Formats: sequence, structure tokens, C-alpha cells
Amino acid sequence: MRKHKSFRGPSVALLVLAASSWPGAFSQAVQSQATSSPVQNRPAVATTSTAAKYAVFAFNDLGMHCYDGDFSVFSLLPPFNVFHAQVIKKGLRPKILDDKNCRLFYSSVVDPSGSINTTSEGKTNFWEFILPLYGVNQPLDAGILGALMPGPGNMPQPMGAYDPAHHWFTAAGVPFTCVDDDGLINPYPMVRVKAVAVKGRKSLGALDIVVPNSNEMNCLSCHVTGQDGASDWHAQTYNVQFCQNPDQVIQYRENILLLHDGINGTRLYNTYTDGQPVLCAGCHYSRALDLNQTGPNTTQASHLYLSHAIHSHHGMTLDHQLPGADNPPILSEDGAASCYNCHPGGTTNCLRGVMSAQQIVCQDCHGGLLALGGVFPLAGGTTREPWADLPKCQSCHTGDAVDNLDGDIVCQVAYDPEDSAATPIEALNDRFAENPGQLYRNSNAHWGVACESCHGSPHAEWPAQVPTANDNVTPLEIQRHGGPVAECDACHDPRLAASMGGPHGMHNVNSRTWMNGHMWFYWRNADSCRACHGLALEGTNLARVAADRILSKSWFGRNKIAITQGTAVSCAMCHGSRYH
Ligand code: HEC
Ligand code: HEC
Ligand code: HEC
Ligand code: HEC
Ligand code: HEC
Ligand code: HEC
Ligand code: HEC
Ligand code: HEC
Ligand code: HEC
Repeated sequence: MRKHKSFRGPSVALLVLAASSWPGAFSQAVQSQATSSPVQNRPAVATTSTAAKYAVFAFNDLGMHCYDGDFSVFSLLPPFNVFHAQVIKKGLRPKILDDKNCRLFYSSVVDPSGSINTTSEGKTNFWEFILPLYGVNQPLDAGILGALMPGPGNMPQPMGAYDPAHHWFTAAGVPFTCVDDDGLINPYPMVRVKAVAVKGRKSLGALDIVVPNSNEMNCLSCHVTGQDGASDWHAQTYNVQFCQNPDQVIQYRENILLLHDGINGTRLYNTYTDGQPVLCAGCHYSRALDLNQTGPNTTQASHLYLSHAIHSHHGMTLDHQLPGADNPPILSEDGAASCYNCHPGGTTNCLRGVMSAQQIVCQDCHGGLLALGGVFPLAGGTTREPWADLPKCQSCHTGDAVDNLDGDIVCQVAYDPEDSAATPIEALNDRFAENPGQLYRNSNAHWGVACESCHGSPHAEWPAQVPTANDNVTPLEIQRHGGPVAECDACHDPRLAASMGGPHGMHNVNSRTWMNGHMWFYWRNADSCRACHGLALEGTNLARVAADRILSKSWFGRNKIAITQGTAVSCAMCHGSRYH
């Protein structure tokens, strides 16, 4: 794959961390199954067995976390992966367990290519500059909030407290890097999340998930001396002397400070040469770094938000105007490629969810640089709030065959193409909607099960399209096939009564009780079937089988029908033209 030795970075002599916060009482239970030494093949997890009494669900909150490749000059974002987990006691009525019942732990695990990432030691110079940049001191391998990497001994680490509002446990800000223990680049390292019972310390199960992270920010391609963002024209116009440091990363980073000072009259370069690396969010508010969500402080209140500043500036022309026919923007819109100039990236491929199979690109969901930059007012008249005014699943998945927006069960664009602010559409039918006013990553459906427990992270929705990104390992462990968690018996006893009380109004799948009972639901309300099976019950995208099935076609199961994964179920498959 794309793994290559390219990590540059000062070899810093950093202290090796003893896993100090390890609560001894749990250590035995967890270590018994955790990887004490990296093995070539991942040991199987307990959840693959349908007979298991518990199921663990876990996911990284974002499909990608970006961090700076160097922290000595300035920083946009620190290494900081957040993941959540839910533990379910299986049964006819499954139960989401809280911290009265169980505790959660994570350790690193080898991915299918044999790569493992246990420590960030020697992989970033973050800890050299954590204090001046982020105002906290943390030892090597500890994130800003103290969450630990498993460390060289791959010691299982406790996840944080149970959050009753979201029904999940959280590991907040584990400082993963995209360099594995062999020094190879791997933006998709895996951790094993394991649940242990409070009573008896018994293992309740485990699940392997990706903790995607990358420092692939390609500012370099434009901001090294001589390129478009550090050109002779800029040197003259803004009276700047660009950097000649042979290290291109230092060079482009210093150049960005020099250019910023030249254009805005700031003194960022001096601050840096005085020994204080620059935190961009110190002046430009970023919700991602406002961990207590208190909003802009007084300094930040007088400056542009970071997202507005960076996106709008690069979407404008060199003379800072709205682009026109003969006045091109600094960075022209060219699908994912233009976003990959800064987001990870041509190599990392952070956009890999099921939607990318439909040629849907960043701009189809987010709009372009100027929309992101808050240049135009949103449809409601407000200015776009970064990290909050984001697209939603319901913006395209607006309903079902019976009730949807503008005749499409699903659209290709998340906003009205006439709307230059790209205001995300809110659907009227809430079948596939997020919780009111909430983002996908904070929403849940079906009795508190998080959307991401069943669908995976944003930009990596199952079935993910970049196999080397490891996302699809997780649903395979949960239900033995890829795609959203569709098997009711991942959580329910298979004897679950026939109903349409599943997620999104789904009925039981691959189930004898449903085969014997579906007619009653049809007789009661045929439209409830048309919603997914189509107005003529011909089968739609909402009625595709999640796995290869063998189902009975007639009374008492005398005739069988084999339906292959992805086929849309029509009533005619089994009933001829009887129901339409
Ligand atoms: C496709 C080329 C390109 C890429 C990639 C790029 N820039 Fe720029 N950037 C430019 C150009 C050109 C300018 C100069 C615009 C001008 O003259 O106002 C610029 C200007 C800037 C400025 C100065 C804005 C101001 O008014 O102070 C900053 C800061 C900046 N870029 C940061 C970044 C960062 C950080 C990245 C990577 C995350 C990045 N750029 C990636 C082309 C690029
Ligand atoms: C000391 C405060 C300060 C810091 C720190 C700072 N900036 Fe700025 N930045 C400004 C000011 C002042 C402006 C002019 C516009 C404004 O007031 O927001 C500006 C403008 C910009 C613009 C141009 C916005 C536009 O509309 O053209 C970009 C892009 C930008 N900054 C990026 C950055 C980046 C990237 C960093 C970190 C390397 C950074 N800034 C750090 C104060 C700061
Ligand atoms: C010139 C560099 C650059 C380019 C090009 C760029 N981004 Fe960003 N983007 C950033 C930086 C830096 C941040 C972090 C801002 C923050 O922390 O608030 C960011 C944050 C974001 C966010 C989260 C914050 C928010 O505004 O909601 C979204 C969404 C986003 N970018 C989407 C895109 C899309 C889509 C594209 C392509 C159309 C794109 N970006 C192109 C640099 C860039
Ligand atoms: C199919 C739609 C879709 C596409 C395509 C898409 N995004 Fe997003 N993006 C979303 C949604 C939905 C969210 C909000 C996720 C959430 O709940 O946090 C989001 C959020 C983000 C965020 C904020 C972090 C987060 O996950 O909340 C960034 C940054 C971002 N997108 C960048 C990009 C970039 C860069 C691309 C292209 C390479 C892209 N997106 C393509 C739908 C999309
Ligand atoms: C820009 C529009 C858009 C957005 C936003 C969007 N989708 Fe999609 N999605 C599509 C299209 C188009 C398809 C392909 C049609 C289909 O297969 O049903 C699709 C397909 C899917 C599928 C595959 C269905 C199957 O059976 O293979 C899933 C699952 C899915 N989307 C989930 C999501 C989730 C979860 C979100 C929010 C995080 C989301 N989508 C946001 C447009 C979008
Ligand atoms: C218990 C598991 C589960 C949960 C929780 C769940 N989903 Fe789904 N979701 C599914 C399954 C299974 C499908 C496929 C259903 C179908 O094809 O009709 C699906 C389909 C979807 C689709 C795509 C519809 C299409 O075109 O195929 C979207 C969008 C979606 N879900 C969004 C969400 C959102 C948003 C949440 C949280 C508010 C959520 N889901 C919670 C299991 C779940
Ligand atoms: C990720 C785990 C999970 C999956 C997968 C799942 N469920 Fe559930 N289900 C739950 C939980 C948790 C509850 C809440 C039970 C309670 O508190 O009564 C629940 C409750 C229900 C209930 C209400 C139970 C009652 O007795 O009132 C129905 C009906 C149901 N699920 C149907 C389904 C169907 C049908 C599917 C498959 C399409 C499905 N579920 C898939 C976790 C799941
Ligand atoms: C929320 C969407 C949805 C609704 C509503 C819905 N179905 Fe389905 N149906 C599906 C999906 C998805 C499948 C394929 C499930 C699988 O096997 O993975 C399916 C499959 C079936 C099957 C084959 C059984 C199986 O396990 O695949 C029958 C029979 C069926 N549906 C009947 C009905 C009837 C009758 C109704 C109305 C009372 C109905 N469906 C309503 C989505 C739906
Ligand atoms: C995979 C095959 C299969 C599919 C697909 C299927 N059915 Fe059935 N259906 C059956 C079987 C088998 C029975 C007999 C039930 C039993 O064995 O108890 C049946 C019985 C029925 C009956 C009772 C009367 C009769 O014709 O025997 C109705 C009504 C019915 N189905 C409606 C539907 C509708 C509406 C759909 C589509 C939404 C549908 N079915 C899809 C297999 C199927």
C-alpha cells in the first residue's frame, strides 16, 4: 500500500512512560486477552460469535483527525483522537450497559497488514512544544487531556467515564500519530476496545476499530520559497524575505508566518524566533480546540474564525476579491483534490465512505471554499458556524419512497445548488435523520444506539471504499459482513418477535418470525411496506439485502430462494405479481 518511510522529525530524547494510571484491579482481566506482544495475526475477538451474551460497539468520532507534522514553528491541531464505545447486553430486550456494569479499556492491535502503533515516542515533536502551544504539560504519550497511548508495553488503558446523555464511554484525545512502530506511515492504526464486568472482572467482549489520523497537510506545495504562496511577487508586494532553511517543512512553515505578517502587520515570526511557537487558534477561534466549548475569548473575538480565515482566503483571488471569469481564485474548486491541498490527502484518502462510490465529493456535501469560509449568509440569514453548520445524512437521505423531498429518496447534493452558502438541507421525514439540532456524530437512534455504532465514522461510512484503511474490519467482527449493522441478532435474541420497530422502521431480517408474520403488517398498512420496497413493491435501494440470504418462498418453507447481497427485495421475487 501507500506506506513509506518518510517521517522526518527531531529525535527527541523523551522519557518512557510507565502506565501509571492503570487501575490494578482490572489489569488482570484485561491483560489476559490484550496483546502483550504484537503478534502477526490479530487474535479473534469475542464478538464474532453470535452466541456471545454481550456485544461491544466502538468508533472514532471523526473519520479523520489531522495534526501538524511539526510543532516548532506553529500549530493548527495537536494529535488528539477521540473514540467512543457502547456495550450491549444481548437479549430479547438488549440493554446498553453503563459504568455500574462495566469498564472499558483500549490497547493497540495489529491491523490486517501487520502494522501496529503502540506509542508516539520519537514520532512527533509535539511534547517538546506542548506547554508553550497548549498551556499544559503532559508526559510523553499523554494527550492534552491526559489520555495515554498504550505505550511500548502495549498496556491496556482505561476509557473515561460513562456519558449518560450519549449512552457511551469516551477516550478523549489519545495522541495517536500516523507512524507505526516500524516507522512506516499508516494513517489507519487499530485499537482493540475491550469491556470488562465490574462484578467478577470478567471479559464481556471486544471490538477492533480504526483510529484514523494524519499529518498530511500539503501547505508545503504552495508555501515553500518560490512557489505561489511565497513568490517573488509576494516578497516584493509585502516586503518579505522568505526562508532559505534547507528543511522544506521548516521553510514553508516560517514562510507562512512571514507572509501572514507581511499581509496583516502581525509579528508572528518574531514571536516564533523569540522561542514561542504560534498557535493559530490563539487569535483565530476554533471550536475544535475550545475543549470546554466556552466560545471565543476576548483576543479571538476580534479576529476571524480559523475556518473562515483559511478557507475564504484561499478561495478568493490574489487581490482578495470574489473570483470572476478573468480573475481566478488562489485555489480553484476541483473536487476532493482542492480540499486535499490541506486535508489529508492524496496519500491518506480521508474521504472513503460508501458515498465516495457514488462519485460524491467534498463540495457536494460541504460546498466550496467560499461557502465554508462563511463568505455568504446561510439560508436562515446567519453566518456559517464552523464545526457546527455541517451537512447531515438527512440532507440527502430525505426520506423514503412514499414521503421524501422533491421526489428523490436520496439526492446527490446536500444543499440547494442555487444557494452559494450551501446551507445543509433538513428533511421533513425523519426516518434517516439525526437528532434535532445535532450532528451525526452526536446522534443516536433506536433506543440510544449511536448512529456511528451501526454506520461507522463520518467520511468512512460502511461499507468503506478504501480497503487498506481498515474501516471494514469492524462490521465484519460485529456481523460477519460489511455495511451498516443490519443483523438484528448482533444485539437481539433471534427469537425477537416480528415488528417494524428496528432502526429506521426496519423489520427483522433473515428471520423466521418475520417470514411467518410479514403479511399481517402488510394487511394492516401496505404503505408501510411501500416506504422501502417501492410504490409498486418493486424493490428500492432501501430494500437491499445486507448479506447473501436463503429465504423461504412459500408456506412451510418448502421452496427456497437465494438472494445475493445488494439485491433489492421485491415482493414479486416470492409472490409473482400478487402484491404491487
Ligand atoms: C494551492 C496553493 C496553496 C496551498 C495548498 C496553501 N496555500 Fe496558503 N496561500 C496560497 C497563496 C497563493 C497565498 C497568498 C495569497 C495572497 O497573496 O493573499 C496564500 C496565503 C496564505 C496565508 C496568508 C493569509 C493572510 O492574509 O495572512 C496563510 C496564513 C496561509 N496561506 C496558510 C496556509 C496553510 C496553513 C496551508 C496548509 C494547511 C496553506 N496555506 C495551503 C496558496 C496556498
Ligand atoms: C496574533 C494574532 C494572530 C495569530 C496568532 C494568527 N493570526 Fe491570522 N490574522 C490575524 C489578523 C489580525 C488578521 C487580519 C484579519 C483578522 O483580523 O482576522 C489575520 C488574517 C489571517 C488570514 C487571512 C484572512 C482573510 O480573510 O484574508 C489567514 C488565512 C490567517 N490569518 C491564518 C492564520 C494562520 C494559519 C495562523 C497560524 C500560523 C494565524 N493566522 C495566526 C491575526 C493572527
Ligand atoms: C488552505 C487550506 C485548506 C483548504 C484548501 C481546505 N481546508 Fe478545510 N480546513 C483547513 C484548516 C486549517 C481547518 C481547521 C480549522 C479549525 O480548526 O477551525 C479546516 C477545517 C475544515 C472543516 C471543519 C471546520 C468547519 O468549518 O466546519 C471542514 C468542514 C472543512 N475544513 C472542509 C473543507 C472542504 C470541504 C474543503 C474543500 C472544498 C476544504 N476544507 C479545503 C484548511 C483547509
Ligand atoms: C457524503 C457527504 C460528505 C462528503 C463527500 C464529505 N463530507 Fe465532510 N462532513 C460530512 C458530514 C455529514 C459531516 C458532519 C459529521 C459529524 O457529525 O461530525 C462532515 C464533517 C466534516 C469535517 C469536520 C469534522 C467532522 O467529521 O465533523 C471536516 C473537516 C470535513 N467534513 C472535511 C471534508 C473533506 C475535506 C471532504 C473531502 C475530502 C469531505 N469532508 C467530504 C459529510 C461529507
Ligand atoms: C450528498 C448526499 C449524501 C449525503 C450527505 C449522505 N449520503 Fe449516503 N448516499 C448518498 C447516495 C447518492 C447514495 C447511493 C444511493 C443508495 O445506494 O441508496 C448513498 C448511499 C448510502 C448508503 C448505502 C446504502 C446501501 O445499501 O448500500 C448508506 C449506508 C449511506 N448512504 C449512509 C449515509 C450516512 C450515514 C450519511 C451521513 C453521515 C450519509 N449517507 C450522507 C448520498 C448522500
Ligand atoms: C441499530 C443500527 C442502526 C442505527 C443505530 C442507525 N442506523 Fe442507519 N441504517 C441501519 C441499517 C441496517 C440501514 C439500511 C436500511 C435500509 O437499507 O433500508 C441504515 C440506513 C441508513 C441510511 C441510508 C439509507 C439508504 O439510502 O440506504 C442513512 C442515511 C442512515 N441509516 C442514517 C442513520 C443515522 C443518521 C442514524 C442515527 C440518528 C442511524 N442511521 C442509526 C442501521 C442503523
Ligand atoms: C446495536 C444493537 C441493536 C441492533 C443491531 C438492533 N437493536 Fe433493537 N434494540 C436495541 C436496544 C438497546 C433496544 C432497547 C431495549 C429496551 O430498552 O427495551 C432495542 C429495542 C428494540 C425493540 C423494542 C423492544 C421491545 O420489546 O419493546 C424492537 C422491536 C427492536 N429493537 C427491533 C430491532 C430490529 C427489527 C432490529 C434489526 C433490524 C434491531 N432491533 C437491531 C439494540 C439493537
Ligand atoms: C425501513 C425499510 C423497510 C420497510 C419499511 C420494509 N422493508 Fe422489507 N426489507 C427491507 C430490507 C432492507 C430488506 C432486506 C433485509 C435483508 O435481508 O438484509 C427487506 C426484506 C424483506 C423481506 C425478505 C426477508 C429478509 O430477511 O430479507 C420481506 C418478506 C419483506 N422485506 C417484507 C416487507 C413487508 C411486508 C413490509 C411492510 C409491512 C416491509 N418489508 C417493510 C426494508 C424494509
Ligand atoms: C423471500 C420471499 C418472500 C418475499 C420477498 C415476500 N414474501 Fe410474502 N410470503 C412469503 C412466504 C414464505 C409466505 C408464507 C408465510 C409462511 O410461510 O408462513 C408469504 C406470505 C405472504 C402473504 C400472505 C398471503 C400469501 O400470499 O400467501 C402476504 C400478504 C405477503 N406474503 C405479502 C408480501 C409482501 C407485500 C411482500 C413485499 C413487501 C412480500 N410478501 C415479500 C415469502 C416472501
